[in-house]
Amino acid sequence: MNKPLCRISGQPLTKVVDLGRQPMGNGFLLPEQFSSEYFYPMEAGFCETSMMFQLIEQPAPEQMFHEQYAFYSSTSRFMEQHFAEFAQQVMQSGYLAKSDPFVVELGCNDGIMLKNFAQAGMRHLGIEPSRNVAEVANAQGVRTLSEFFAEDVAEQIVRTDGQADAFIAANVMCHIPDIQGVVKGIRTLLKPTGVVMFEDPYLGDVIEKISYDQIYDEHVFLFSAHSIQYLFNLHGMELIDVQPQKTHGGSMRYVLAHAGAYPVKETVAQLLQQELSIGLHRLSSYQTFSKNVEQSRSDLVNLLRDLKSQGKRIAGYGATSKSTTILNYCGIGSELIEYISDTTPIKQGKFTPGVHIPVRPYEDFKANPPDYAVLFAWNHAEEIMAKEKAFMDAGGRWIVHVPKVQVL
Ligand code: TYD
Repeated sequence: MNKPLCRISGQPLTKVVDLGRQPMGNGFLLPEQFSSEYFYPMEAGFCETSMMFQLIEQPAPEQMFHEQYAFYSSTSRFMEQHFAEFAQQVMQSGYLAKSDPFVVELGCNDGIMLKNFAQAGMRHLGIEPSRNVAEVANAQGVRTLSEFFAEDVAEQIVRTDGQADAFIAANVMCHIPDIQGVVKGIRTLLKPTGVVMFEDPYLGDVIEKISYDQIYDEHVFLFSAHSIQYLFNLHGMELIDVQPQKTHGGSMRYVLAHAGAYPVKETVAQLLQQELSIGLHRLSSYQTFSKNVEQSRSDLVNLLRDLKSQGKRIAGYGATSKSTTILNYCGIGSELIEYISDTTPIKQGKFTPGVHIPVRPYEDFKANPPDYAVLFAWNHAEEIMAKEKAFMDAGGRWIVHVPKVQVL
C-alpha cells in the first residue's frame, strides 16, 4: 500500500492507533447478512502539519449513509433540548441578516435542529444524504435535499435560494472525507457576512478521557481548534470563536467566517494555547493514548470475565456506533454481554456489527434487568441515570469505560 497521506495537507500521515478489523459502526444486521458483512482495518493517523487526527482508511460513504441508516438523532430528550438551544444561539447571534435570513444545515438527519428554524418561520434548507432520515425531516416541515454536499450543490442552492447567512452542522463535518470539497462549497454558499457554526466530538476530550470509541468508520476526523483553523485558512476563512459543549462526551462548537469579516474572539487563542499544553501537536501524545487504549481494553475484558465467572448477568445499554469499536476491538460477544438494549426501532431485533450481540427493545431491559449494564451510551449518562432509578434501586450496577473502566 502507498504511504497514506493527510487529507488536508497532503503530507504523509503517521499511524498512531490500530483498532483492528472493524465493521460499520452503525451496521446493525440480521443473521442472513452475517456472511456478507464488510470489515476494514481501522487505524488512525496524525499529521504534524495540519494537526489533523484522521482515519487512514475509510469505507465509501455509500456503505455508511443510505436508505437503511440506523441513526436517528431524535432519540434523546437531552439532544432535542441541546439542538433547540443551538438554534436559538444561531438566531440570536447577531450574525444573521435582519431581513429574511437563510440558514443551511448540513446533515440535518431527521430535522432535530432545523425544525426550530422552520417553526420560527425562517428560510432554511437541510442537506441530508441518508434518504430515510431526510424523509422524516421533510414530513415534519423541514425543507430537505437528499444529496452529498459539495461545490456543485452549493452553486445550485445559490441559484435557487441565494447565499446563506449561516451554515450549520452538528456531528456531521467530522464524517466527511472530502472535507476540502465541503469547505469550498461553504465558501461559495456563504454571504460575505455569513458564518459557519458547527460542532463535533473534540479531540482534546477523546485523548484526555481515553474515549477511543469516538473512533469509528463515520468519524474520519477528530477535530481540534488547530486542525480546523489550518483547514479553513487554506480556503480564505478563519476561526472566530470556539465554545466547548457537553454533548457526545465532550464536543467543540467552532464559529468561522470569511477572513477579516469579524473580530476573532479571545476564546480562540485560549483554546489553541490549551491544546499545546496538553500536547495535541505532539506525536508522542498519541502514542501514549494508544497505550492507554490497550490498557482500557484489558481492564474491560478482565472485569467482564470476572463478573461472568461469578455468574452475573451483563447487558449493554445503548447500541451506539461507539460500542461497535469497543466490542470489536476488545473481542467481546454474547458470551459476555447477553444483549444490548436500545430504544431505536430500526436497531431492535437486529444484531450488533461484527460481534453479533442481539439488540433488544428497552422494554426487555425493564422487564428483565441484568445485574450489570455496560453504559455504551455513556455520553447520555446524566439523562439515563435520572430515568433508571428503578434499575439501581434493585441493585443493578453500571459499568463505564471512560475516563477509566469502573463499576459505578
Ligand atoms: P449516541 O450516543 O448518540 O450515538 P452514537 O455512538 O451512535 O453516535 O446514541 C445513543 C444510542 O443509545 C441510540 O441508539 C439510542 C440509545 N439510547 C437508549 O437506548 N436509551 C436512552 O435513554 C438514550 C438516551 C439513548
